[in-house]
Amino acid sequence: MIKTTVAALLKGKDLLQNINVNGWVRTFRSNRFIALNDGSSLNNIQCVLDFEAFDEATLKRITTGAAINVKGTLIESLGKGQKFEIQVTELSILGDCNPEVYPIQPKKHSLEFLREQAHLRIRTNTFSAVMRLRSALAFAVHQYFTQNGFYYFNAPIITGSDAEGAGELFRVSNLDAKKLPLTNTGAVDYSQDFFGKQTNLTVSGQLEAETYALALGKVYTFGPTFRAENSNTTRHLAEFWMIEPEVAFNDLEDNMDLAQDFIQYTLKYVLEHCQDDLDFLNQRLADEEKTKPTQERSEFSLLEKLHFVVDNNFKRVSYTEAIEILKNSAPNKKNKFQYPIKEWGADLQSEHERFLVEKHFKCPVILYDYPAEIKAFYMRLNEDGKTVRAMDVLFPGIGEIVGGSQREERLDVLVEKIKALGINEKELWWYLDLRKFGTCVHSGFGLGFERLVQFTTGMGNIRDVIPYPRYPQNAEF
Ligand code: 4AD
Ligand code: MG
Repeated sequence: MIKTTVAALLKGKDLLQNINVNGWVRTFRSNRFIALNDGSSLNNIQCVLDFEAFDEATLKRITTGAAINVKGTLIESLGKGQKFEIQVTELSILGDCNPEVYPIQPKKHSLEFLREQAHLRIRTNTFSAVMRLRSALAFAVHQYFTQNGFYYFNAPIITGSDAEGAGELFRVSNLDAKKLPLTNTGAVDYSQDFFGKQTNLTVSGQLEAETYALALGKVYTFGPTFRAENSNTTRHLAEFWMIEPEVAFNDLEDNMDLAQDFIQYTLKYVLEHCQDDLDFLNQRLADEEKTKPTQERSEFSLLEKLHFVVDNNFKRVSYTEAIEILKNSAPNKKNKFQYPIKEWGADLQSEHERFLVEKHFKCPVILYDYPAEIKAFYMRLNEDGKTVRAMDVLFPGIGEIVGGSQREERLDVLVEKIKALGINEKELWWYLDLRKFGTCVHSGFGLGFERLVQFTTGMGNIRDVIPYPRYPQNAEF
């Protein structure tokens, strides 16, 4: 007897063999046909019972969600909809599932409802497809970097620094909140805290990755990052996974080349390896689009969008050019932007980014050379003295998917910047050491993994592409 999976059975290579498979019942109809799924594939295998061979009590327990074991023969199916099926000789119920109270019924549930049942939503086609794709994308990330000579580096999760300087930190402390030790001046005395100083969950592994790049040459992180930004949007999470390559001797152009090549590789990988799941999500999105007013529907299907990104260069546009385009755009002139673009220096909002990508260029865009004022302290200052070598990759439907830069490698320029921003120079002594001991041009970027999964799966809300989303007022599960 061959112990096997649904995915293997659907390939039909164990035809006419005695097989043994476990799984969960998706549906059971006519007391005869079980659609069985074990997570190995989007598709179910049909199991056919001769109901006279089974007692009434057993048949009653074959309900949606029940865990069962099936033994039988794999045969070619005469019915429509499947090539192979199992003629069941033995069946045992491993775990009952009471249909009266089971939340996941064989019907369409709203994504909002399923978010409340995040521990069970993975049993639906949509979520199983999304999470299999997420897994495949993660594999492609590691494969890309390994094949290209990068080392996988694990940045610390607890840190004393705020890499982005945005102050959106989750504090890490084991002080007694009811009895905080205070200093003479009445401030909390963090010298008595676990680490002897203020610490937080990391917002980015970049600063530490830079130290490794300046020894190992090419490194990347792929780990959890945390931001206490109170943004209830479809593109923000409080806990998300970021991929951060950092490369010694790369300038901004090299960095752009890397970002494009890397993203295209991961998408190509899933197009080649995850066809069933992508076809399903393609259809799901097409059905969803049909419910929208015609003018809001996307011109392209999910698969068309993925192929488009794989096959075309990303358009490279300077911030200054982008501002000109936006200033003269129809929505700006008609006052349709929530934040009208008045002058050079304005921070770009997602409405602007999406206008550039979706309406103006109609392709992924890399914006570069931003005003120094609106970007982080570590970005390399250009000769003009007012812009920095920053780059953001903007994607249709997503907005910013990558943020990165060439780093400031000149000690004096960096120190001046740190002082001007009032950042504690002492805390960054090790970061400044890099600029003292064999400094060099280097660059890197951060890709929000969930935004990549969102783009790949066509899911509208980032909360639906991570197993257990963390966002304001929610840390269930
Ligand atoms: O642009 P960000 O803030 O860049 C950095 O953190 C740099 N230190 C990266 C680097 O150069 N090594 O974040 C990078 C990306 C964004 O482009 C976005 O895709 C994602 O991380 N991101 C988020 N994703 C989900 N939820 C959030 N709250 C996110 N904030 C950023
Ligand atoms: Mg950014």
